[in-house]
Amino acid sequence: MVTGLRGVDLGVPDVAAHARFYTEVWRLSVAAERDGSVYLRGTGAYHHILALHPRDKPGLLCINLAAASRADVDRVHLRAKEAGASRIDPPAAIGEPGGGYGFIFADPDGRVVRVIAGDQRHADASVSPDRPLQVTHVVLNTPRQEDAAAFWVKALGFEVSDRSLLTFIRCNADHHNIAFHPGESSTLHHIAFEMAGIDSVMRGAGRMRDAGHPIEWGPGRHGPGNNVFAYFIGPDDFVIEYTAEVEKVDENYRVREPRDWAYPPGHSDLWGATSPPSDRMKAAQKKIQFARGLFHP
Ligand SMILES: [Fe+2]
Repeated sequence: MVTGLRGVDLGVPDVAAHARFYTEVWRLSVAAERDGSVYLRGTGAYHHILALHPRDKPGLLCINLAAASRADVDRVHLRAKEAGASRIDPPAAIGEPGGGYGFIFADPDGRVVRVIAGDQRHADASVSPDRPLQVTHVVLNTPRQEDAAAFWVKALGFEVSDRSLLTFIRCNADHHNIAFHPGESSTLHHIAFEMAGIDSVMRGAGRMRDAGHPIEWGPGRHGPGNNVFAYFIGPDDFVIEYTAEVEKVDENYRVREPRDWAYPPGHSDLWGATSPPSDRMKAAQKKIQFARGLFHP
């Protein structure tokens, strides 16, 4: 019933600085601006994939999921309620750029999630060697990763794809759209943007290096999902990833367990060419919290 990850809403103290970075270096484009917020698109069809809202401190405000129809939004709403979503708004028209019909709720760990259908889509979707297509996954820290995954399965119809150190879940043919990483509290681990291929990941890495954001982990190829990756620390210590070649899976995919994904000593990916994640990045991956309360733009 949920068909994809549309993107994320971030709260940031300096929207203009973030917008400059995410357009000039990260290479998204401005889809809309309203009331101090900036809405950025990739080259895919989603109206926007990253929204920047003025807030006192950096935070993750909302994860946006796409549904196929308004009727599906209603169905998912019922399901989320039955699964025990504590704070949940009724489905309604969405007033922000992109519009649509959706509802917002908080999961048991306080992550704010919105399910949207009927929003505007761009007719000029394309693939560009130097621009992200879309947000392909978000990884979240949690002290209860199996409980968190179980809630998303029950409430939103996700399926578990794999378990390594992380628990990977999906809502479409991509190996994962969300993954839960062990952590002391409910925080953001990283946001991954899909690029056209390995060459695009590396060209992006070059732009980032020139802009003062060297690779913090990678280039490498993950085990679960088989995707190529390069990780960076963006403005305000949001950890962001360029990735490509995410494995496509179907209902015959076999869920594997942590022992199936053990790398040789000293390796942190399938290639073994990269150093492990930098200490700076590991610290940044614990810093960004969900803002308190349901998000109402
Ligand atoms: Fe990732």
